[in-house]
This record gives sequence, structure tokens and C-alpha cells, in this order.
Amino acid sequence: MLISFEGIDGCGKSTQIKLLKEYFDQKGIKYSVFREPGGTEISERIRSLLLHETDEMHPITELLLFSAARSQLIQEKVLPLLQKNEIVILDRFYDSTTAYQGYGRKSAELKSIHVLNQLATHHTKPDLTFYLKIDPKEAERRTSGNRKDRMENAGYQFFVDVSKGYDELANNEERIHSIDAMQSEVEVHAQIVSIIEKNH
Ligand code: TYD
Repeated sequence: MLISFEGIDGCGKSTQIKLLKEYFDQKGIKYSVFREPGGTEISERIRSLLLHETDEMHPITELLLFSAARSQLIQEKVLPLLQKNEIVILDRFYDSTTAYQGYGRKSAELKSIHVLNQLATHHTKPDLTFYLKIDPKEAERRTSGNRKDRMENAGYQFFVDVSKGYDELANNEERIHSIDAMQSEVEVHAQIVSIIEKNH
């Protein structure tokens, strides 16, 4: 079973993934977690290129590097685990590329991004995706004290556009569950668990 988490920076993804790991641990259910971009040696090296605060990067280069990191992770780690019927949790997956590079940066046409996503994922789709939906203003408030990486420096309007992308994806894809991330951590976690229990 493949579960992905999505949302803009500051939506509480890391906390929810931590709570879900604790839930699986308590149940004695085996799982693996990978972050994107990252999760393999090559993908982590690509990650440091992508998130370095000061480097200038052409939008298409950025799009291809996120995709390259993903392809390596899926082939090297994710597909072998899914073949063994294990649970894999992804901290971001190709919906991030659609939302950030497609709607946010407008790096390429959505249909080109769709084709690239299929290539980079080797046609792998999540069974469940949790989109933690948060008002970009609130997300900005939550991340205001943090040191920002290259993506996070993109500014408020960028995150409004990215959010619109996620909203449209969630409306069009049944696997994507939009969760109100303005609720408490405990409430968000309870909703996630209930959806997983229904689908497992
Ligand atoms: P990360 O530190 O993992 O952010 P977070 O903890 O919020 O997930 O950095 C990943 C950044 O890269 C984040 O700003 C989203 C961005 N990103 C894309 O723009 N496109 C992508 O395809 C992926 C996977 C991430």
C-alpha cells in the first residue's frame, strides 16, 4: 500500500507522518517512509542541488531534477517494497510537482508535467493521498521563524497558486483526501487513521 502526504510548506505534514508512524508501530504494522526529493543516495544529492538557498535555477532544470530524484527513489526503494506488499509512506510525491512546478512556477504545461510524472514514477500511483489543506497565510505564519530553503523563498503568491493546484487535484482525483489542516494535530490524525482503516 502506497500512502502519500501533500500540502504547502507549513501544513503540518511532518507532524502527521510522525503520528502515523507511531500508530503503525503500536499496531505492529511494518512500514517504510521516504521523503521527496530524497530517499536514496543519488536522490539526496539531487535534493541538495534543488534546495540550496542561493543558487539560481532554470524552472525546467528544477522540474527535471525533482523528476530525476523521484525516478531513482521509486525504482531503487519503493517498487521492491510494494512488490513485497509492504506499506510505503511518501512525504511528497508527484502531486508536489504538479502543484509546485505546474501551478506555482508554471514551468511547463500541465499536460507535459503529467507525462513527465508518469515517466518519473514508472506509472506508480498512490493508493491514498492526504492533502493537508491550510490557508497560505496561516502556513506563512507557522514557517515565519524558520530558515527558508530555495523553494520556500518563492513568496506568498506562489503558495496561493500552489494551493489552487492542490485544490484542483483533490477535486479531480478520488485517491486524494483533502483534510482540514487548520484543525488540531489530534483531529487531523484521527481523520487520517479512519480513512486508512476504511481502505486497508
Ligand atoms: P522539504 O524540506 O522536504 O519541505 P517540506 O518539509 O515542507 O516537505 O522540501 C521540499 C521542497 O521542495 C518543498 O518546498 C516542496 C518542494 N517540491 C517541489 O517544488 N516539487 C516537488 O516535486 C517536490 C517533491 C518538492
